[in-house]
Amino acid sequence: MSDEKVELGKKLFWDGRLSGDGSTACVACHMPQMGWAFTSPISRGYPGTVHWRFSQTVLNSGYYTKLFWEGNVNSLEQQAKAAATGAVAGNGDESMMEMQLRFVPEYVEDFQNIFGTPWPNIEDAWKAIAAFQRTLVSDPDKVPFDRYMNGDESALSESQLRGMELFEGKANCVACHSGPLLSDQSFHALGVPNNSLFESEPLYQISHRWQQYQKGVSEDVYRTANEDMGLYYGTKDPENKGKFRTPSLRELKYTAPYMHNGTLATLADVIDFYDAGGGEHPNKSSLMQPLGLDEKEREDLVAFLEALSMDEPLLMDSPALPASVPLQ
Ligand code: HEC
Ligand code: HEC
Repeated sequence: MSDEKVELGKKLFWDGRLSGDGSTACVACHMPQMGWAFTSPISRGYPGTVHWRFSQTVLNSGYYTKLFWEGNVNSLEQQAKAAATGAVAGNGDESMMEMQLRFVPEYVEDFQNIFGTPWPNIEDAWKAIAAFQRTLVSDPDKVPFDRYMNGDESALSESQLRGMELFEGKANCVACHSGPLLSDQSFHALGVPNNSLFESEPLYQISHRWQQYQKGVSEDVYRTANEDMGLYYGTKDPENKGKFRTPSLRELKYTAPYMHNGTLATLADVIDFYDAGGGEHPNKSSLMQPLGLDEKEREDLVAFLEALSMDEPLLMDSPALPASVPLQ
């Protein structure tokens, strides 16, 4: 991970030439000013389409061993390729995107220096983007919780300290949100309600059906599918329906709304959802039980969740993108 590779990855993250029609760079759905996510409940899609899930933040994504809400990809390199080529995301053709890079003299030189190849290869573009994303991490000096863990006892307010105690005790959030990322990187069904957009809007229904087909479900399942089945798509085990990868709880202050389909608008809504024991689902985790929190306890939990974000969002200026030049 050299500085040059990270710098190249940054340009490519912003560069629409890594998409079908030049319009849909990674940054289109992972905007620094939106917490490196896209803050509508269901992400925007490639022009003319919508996505079918909430866009995850790429902050701290270098620490996950499984990516995406259903955890179906194992590395940031594979993930970048999946995003740039996916029909409701970048919708780019790999050989065409590679050609685009080869017509940018500055990129040709960058790839020569970094990867030692005469011309840019698209696989190396994914490596550079992955290297850039590995630098997008929470700075522990700026996160109250991390300051507290590093010995600064004044870093958390009284309310946040009570929230932490609830998190580890009565509310038992720590059963699934543990470790430095506050994620067990495992899969659970909570019964998050469906997003009603899929009942009323043709474009959303098109994306939903296309995903079922794409993920190879049986005709039976295809015809009756009315929910996002998460982990099931990879395993085809009915017990995995409705399970999603536990997300990190870092930087939540900047990444509302919440859950795989963005149906919970605020952190207070999230706490109300857990307080009620989650939603309805046949596979719901037995860890999801009504918590019996009073109003003050709910506020304390929200305050603690806020202490897991940096004091200020991580912002970044857009890089200048180098021009394409005709070959002589
Ligand atoms: C059209 C919108 C869109 C574009 C363009 C897009 N993404 Fe995403 N991204 C999403 C959505 C939505 C998800 C969640 C998808 C899922 O779980 O199926 C996601 C998930 C991710 C994740 C997973 C994070 C995690 O916690 O597992 C990473 C990393 C990521 N995108 C990086 C990229 C990169 C790199 C590019 C450019 C090559 C890109 N994205 C382009 C919308 C987009
Ligand atoms: C059984 C495991 C489990 C327990 C217990 C649990 N969570 Fe979660 N949490 C998850 C999973 C899985 C998701 C994603 C669910 C989805 O999108 O359908 C999630 C999502 C979230 C989100 C949304 C994050 C985002 O980026 O969208 C927040 C906030 C959250 N949990 C906080 C908590 C708090 C606070 C508690 C305790 C009151 C808690 N969780 C208890 C597994 C759990």
